[in-house]
Amino acid sequence: MQASEAEKPRIVILISGTGSNMVAIAEAVKKEEIDADIVGIISNRPNAAGLEKAQAMDLHTDLIDHTLYASRDEFDHALIRMIEDLKPDLVVLAGFMRILTADFTRYYEGRLLNIHPSLLPKYQGLNTHQRALDAGDDIHGVTVHFVTEELDGGPNAIQAIVPILDVDNAKLLQQRVHEQEHIIYPIAVKWFCEGRLNMKGNEALLDGKALPLRGVQLDSRN
Ligand code: GRF
Repeated sequence: MQASEAEKPRIVILISGTGSNMVAIAEAVKKEEIDADIVGIISNRPNAAGLEKAQAMDLHTDLIDHTLYASRDEFDHALIRMIEDLKPDLVVLAGFMRILTADFTRYYEGRLLNIHPSLLPKYQGLNTHQRALDAGDDIHGVTVHFVTEELDGGPNAIQAIVPILDVDNAKLLQQRVHEQEHIIYPIAVKWFCEGRLNMKGNEALLDGKALPLRGVQLDSRN
């Protein structure tokens, strides 16, 4: 028997800005590369360009303006209520520029993914491209990981390695990393929706086997 629409994994994507990773995931769903329903796109910024992109793809959008909440705690609890109305199986952070409270990350533990533009555990936090250049690294990249209480610290699912070129600056490097983001985020979401990727303790598992520290690595130099 074919699974009915209602039985597909339900995905909610949180954005704050451009939303290009959200679009990459939504396109993969539209092309049926990912068998899931995107049930909502939530932005904390009214002017996020990603909102219009989501609407153009006929996706349901919600806005929750963090500036209208007195504390991070109040905002996160309101955000949980908004997400819960959509009954998600998976919550995807795609350029969501808010630090989340432990209440939030615990609530969604094991079903909350984030993408971070570095080869985690290297370069948690901001300005990752410039930091990789300043350190004289040969390679940089991007990671999809499960979210835990530790900022950019949860177990890694997949990474893409991007070479650092002699001519690079932060902007050029960021562009090449962004291209890889649009490849690896849909892969991780697909694995999750197929039940292949999950989190146990502080480890990410693929097909029941614990992944190494860095997760599955794709190398864009190949
Ligand atoms: C990406 O660089 C991602 O790694 C970081 O936020 C950015 C989001 O870009 N977490 P977009 O809004 O998906 O285009």
